[in-house]
Amino acid sequence: MPIAVAETVSALRTGTADARAAGRSIALVPTMGALHDGHFALVRRAREVADLVIVSIFVNPLQFGPTEDLDRYPRTMDADVAELEQLGVDWVFAPSVAEMYPSGAIQTRVTAGEVGSLYEGRTRTGHFDGVLTVVSKLLNIAQPDTVLFGQKDAQQVFLVARMIADLDLPVTVEVVQTVREQDGLALSSRNRFLDEREKLAALGLSIALKAAESSAHRGVDAVLAAAQSVLRGEGIVELDYLKVVAPETFLPVDDDYLGKAVVLIAARVGTTRLIDNTTIFLGGMRN
Ligand code: PAF
Repeated sequence: MPIAVAETVSALRTGTADARAAGRSIALVPTMGALHDGHFALVRRAREVADLVIVSIFVNPLQFGPTEDLDRYPRTMDADVAELEQLGVDWVFAPSVAEMYPSGAIQTRVTAGEVGSLYEGRTRTGHFDGVLTVVSKLLNIAQPDTVLFGQKDAQQVFLVARMIADLDLPVTVEVVQTVREQDGLALSSRNRFLDEREKLAALGLSIALKAAESSAHRGVDAVLAAAQSVLRGEGIVELDYLKVVAPETFLPVDDDYLGKAVVLIAARVGTTRLIDNTTIFLGGMRN
């Protein structure tokens, strides 16, 4: 079957009604387009877990702050749809802003709570309220059995999973590992803004995370010191945050914390803001 593109909620609902009535399982991969191998890994996994795969492409204004790069965000719809067709995606849902927010300024929003105002949320006020609001709309529109996200946006994954649990939404979250370039740089739609020199500087993020992994047996303070020392050496001056958090709460852990933790990093390289993360086992525990 050729790929189908729905630009309205009713077209997607009508187009997928037969599959739903026949009890076929549905997976949704929410994206903002400008697709790369990280998204394609999500799509491949979606193909494995469901009979019907929907990919949404919507640059959601609600999750961009007034000073952020909404207009600059890359839009490559034709190329995206062509790639998704090759991967056997059934439906692309590509609504306009007016279709998603018909009354203009939306009145009802999902709020992300305390963790939503930390790390990414501290720099990007309201960002996660915007993400959770659009994700809950997309879940209601597509009604998937499974929704897939990339581990690269670790805080987003945590908050979406938390929303789904808190609001009893009938969908399973599947998280797919970060896809990296051979040199370690995490794939991101924003990498296309980096020139060659900035790309080299951006490698500092993944190198710092590797240093953090190697120091995990020595505790949180050693992890932070090792990562910071790499970042200084790599010339990433505009570090936004570097944190070690517990996976269950996403709150920072103390130096005596033992077990699984997530190291989060965000930095500005030139005019481009990049994030990355890794999972470590503090105190040498492996599970
Ligand atoms: O990760 C993204 O691309 C976006 O935050 C998402 C989940 C598609 C919501 O707009």
